Amino acid sequence: MPEDEWVTASAEETIGLGRRLAARLRAPLLVFLTGELGSGKTTLAKGIISGLGAAREEDVLSPTFTLVHVFHNHTTVYHVDLYRIASFHDLETLGLEDVFERPAIVVIEWAEKFTLRADWPVVRIQLDHAGEERRRIRLNDAAGALQ
Ligand SMILES: Nc1ncnc2c1ncn2[C@@H]1O[C@H](COP(=O)(O)OP(=O)(O)OP(=O)(O)O)[C@@H](O)[C@H]1O
Ligand SMILES: [Mg+2]
Repeated sequence: MPEDEWVTASAEETIGLGRRLAARLRAPLLVFLTGELGSGKTTLAKGIISGLGAAREEDVLSPTFTLVHVFHNHTTVYHVDLYRIASFHDLETLGLEDVFERPAIVVIEWAEKFTLRADWPVVRIQLDHAGEERRRIRLNDAAGALQ
């Protein structure tokens, strides 16, 4: 199914959705997360990354200062936050080329700022506030990358 949509009513539900999605992800893959501040990108990433068995939920934190976190388990998972990236030059200085050296799952917050060329398939997930604790989460798998 190329498109899917959910509305979650709590952070816990969004984590649960991330865990279910994780079961359908195979490296190499880019997971683009877009949506405004507080829309739940990091929360969904917690579910995805813990669901992949790459880290405990509490160890998946917003990579705001280091910008890139890497988790090694049976799958290598990167968690990238591009919020502070202001230019293509900033993006180049992150050294993301190394990420693409071997198959991995790369979860990118503020993915609209990811303007590098990458040959890996992309799954796009847009999150939006939908009132109080509700979030609308829309998935686009135009590349047919999901299992
Ligand atoms: N249904 C929901 N899904 C996800 N988060 C929710 C939901 N309801 C409330 N929240 C709360 O909203 C906040 C979402 O924060 P989170 O850090 O995941 O957003 P973000 O999109 O990563 O923000 P940023 O752009 O700052 O990185 C958390 O405090 C979370 O507890
Ligand atoms: Mg975040």
